[in-house]
This record gives sequence, C-alpha cells and structure tokens, in this order.
Amino acid sequence: MAKRIDVSGLNAYYSNFLAIEDISMTVEPRSVTAFIGPSGCGKSTFLRTLNRMHEVTPGGRVEGKVMLDDENLYGAGIDPVAVRREVGMVFQRPNPFPTMSIYDNVAAGLRLAGKYKKSELDGIVEKSLKGANLWNEVKDRLNKPGSGLSGGQQQRLCIARAIAVEPKVLLMDEPCSALDPISTLAIEDLIGELKEQFTIVIVTHNMQQAARVSDRTAFFNLAAVGQPGKLIEIDDTERIFSNPSVQATEDYISGRFG
Ligand SMILES: Nc1ncnc2c1ncn2[C@@H]1O[C@H](COP(=O)(O)OP(=O)(O)OP(=O)(O)O)[C@@H](O)[C@H]1O
Ligand SMILES: [Mg+2]
Repeated sequence: MAKRIDVSGLNAYYSNFLAIEDISMTVEPRSVTAFIGPSGCGKSTFLRTLNRMHEVTPGGRVEGKVMLDDENLYGAGIDPVAVRREVGMVFQRPNPFPTMSIYDNVAAGLRLAGKYKKSELDGIVEKSLKGANLWNEVKDRLNKPGSGLSGGQQQRLCIARAIAVEPKVLLMDEPCSALDPISTLAIEDLIGELKEQFTIVIVTHNMQQAARVSDRTAFFNLAAVGQPGKLIEIDDTERIFSNPSVQATEDYISGRFG
C-alpha cells in the first residue's frame, strides 16, 4: 500500500543537542500509530518534526526527510504553514482559544485558510463537531466560550478544530493525559472512528491505550540521559505487545524498565 508518511534518516536538534537520531519509519493511510517509550526519549520531538513544528522552538533544527505522500516536507519551497494545515495537531492540555466561542474555535482554521460563506462555515462546523462526537453536547450553546466546557469536551473541541480543515494526518501528543477515565474512553472511541478518514499518530504513556487504539506501535528509547533517542522497533501493535523483536521493548512494556 502507498505510504502516507515515509520518514528517513531523521535527526532533530535543540541547538547542539541531538535529541533524536536517525529515525526511519513509514505510516500507512487510515491507520493509528502509537509512539511509546520512556520520558525524554524524544516522542514529542519526533512528532513535532512531522508537521514542521520542531523548528518553531528556538535552536530547533531537523535533518533528513519526511515524505507526506509524494512531497518532502523539508524540501525547498515548502510552506510550513501549509504543512501544518495538512498535518494537524492535538496537544496534551486542551487549548481552545479562551475568548472565542465554541463555533469560532472550530471555524478559526477555516477562516485563516480561505473565504467561506456563513452557510458553508455553519455546515463545516456542524460536521466537525459531529465528527468529534461533541455536537449533541454543544449545539445549543455554540456562541458560548470554548473555555466553559469540561476538560474532555475541550479536548474534543480541539479535535473538531483540527479536523475542520480536513488534514491528511492528525498528530496527538498524550491527548488523554489530562482527562478523566470516561473522557479518555470517549477520545479513544473517537480515534477509532477518525481513522476511517484520517491517519493518526498518537503519543501515549498508557500501554493499555496504545494496545486499544493503535494498529502499529513504535517503541523509542535512549541509552542514557544526554544520549539521543532512537526508534527501537515498530511493528503491528499485537506483535509489539505479545512478541516484540527486541528485549528492551519487552522490558518496557512489561514494566521491567530501568
Ligand atoms: N525546548 C527544548 N529545548 C531543549 N531541549 C529540549 C526541548 N524540548 C525537549 N528537549 C529535550 O529533548 C529530549 C526529548 O524530549 P521530548 O520532549 O521529545 O521527550 P518525550 O519522549 O516526549 O518525553 P515525555 O514522555 O516526558 O513527554 C529530552 O532530552 C528533552 O530534555
Ligand atoms: Mg512528550
């Protein structure tokens, strides 16, 4: 099958510090890939290289190649803003624009991207909120501030905002770590639905979550503090959790790490 993402020989630096080294992997369309590994091994850094966010950090620099379909995101003449529209991101803490209404939060990216008629915007906002399983909870208060929602609702609002611009890929960095168990399950169910349309990459510290939501799992590790993080292995999730190829993966998933 054609690859949605094809990363080769990727290094990412913070100034002179090599945070992740020589990462290569592929991601198929309409799949969920989970990134697991100990704190500091570079999961978030790597995730941010997939939509040109890493370079937003002062000193942030990337070497290597990230192909999105047949386009190198680090090629000459690529507009990072356009990349971030194609590769959306949802963060650990829900971050709706606090002063904006629920409606405007979802419409924000669309308004930046081009001109839409009010009726078109209405349609896309409704579709995105439905896609994020939030519509029924907010349809009667679309003009109230997004910050007035519960944490789990805010995270679904952020997902609605991200999918409104119809990205190819959705990156999620520990999207449930600030949520209660019920909201977490709601997001996990949602991920299962969203993968029919989007390609999803999710960082999680929750092994059960990785096992529940993902098709493929990538294990990252670092030899010691100060050493670069590396991709140890990536395989079908079932295999990673039942019979991984590398001992370090086995140790990590069975909690025998460190
Ligand atoms: N803004 C930054 N400036 C300098 N170094 C950074 C910065 N952000 C991260 N690092 C370093 O890069 C390495 C990888 O960090 P990263 O946040 O990607 O790890 P992670 O696997 O996401 O960890 P966690 O599971 O704790 O979120 C760490 O050594 C970290 O200290
Ligand atoms: Mg992280």
